[in-house]
Amino acid sequence: MRTIYAVLLLCFVLFNCDNKSKKEEKGFTYENETTSTESEKSKQETSTPESIAVDMSNKGIGPIQTMDISKKIDKKLAKNGKETFYKLCTACHRPDKRFIGPAVAGILDRRSPEWVMNMILNPVEMIQKDPIAKALMVEYNGAPMPNQGLSEDDARAILEYFRTLKQ
Ligand code: HEC
Repeated sequence: MRTIYAVLLLCFVLFNCDNKSKKEEKGFTYENETTSTESEKSKQETSTPESIAVDMSNKGIGPIQTMDISKKIDKKLAKNGKETFYKLCTACHRPDKRFIGPAVAGILDRRSPEWVMNMILNPVEMIQKDPIAKALMVEYNGAPMPNQGLSEDDARAILEYFRTLKQ
């Protein structure tokens, strides 16, 4: 009788230990996997355009050093800019919602006018060197804003059109 108890006890102990160590092994790797993927996922979700620095003193890199924007919006210029925008930019931009590139409504509340002009006229260098443009490109999945070969006057007209768009 005693031997039977002893054998049963031994079986029980062995079975339990074995099971426990398996569980621990499994739980350990499983937990590790989920925590790392979850933190990566939440990182992606929180890197919205709003998290990109607003630095109005950044004038960007390119031909435009300083700009003088009169208070009153030039409606005729804005209309010309709107036409060019719809011809060349709406493949990737919508005025008020995120598309392949960012929404442009309210852009002058988050970027200096010089920065916007340089982004339109000199995007390739901007994406390489400017901290905001670099961060934007990461946010927009590495899609680069192309140089559309606009003249300064065309870019200025688009800027005037942007001024008419409120967020
Ligand atoms: C092929 C797609 C594409 C076209 C066409 C395009 N853009 Fe962009 N644009 C982008 C992307 C993508 C970004 C974000 C930065 C990056 O990833 O290079 C961007 C960024 C910008 C920004 C900065 C936005 C911000 O929130 O700071 C401005 C301004 C801009 N584009 C203006 C224009 C204008 C004006 C035109 C037309 C002349 C134009 N873009 C044409 C894709 C495009």
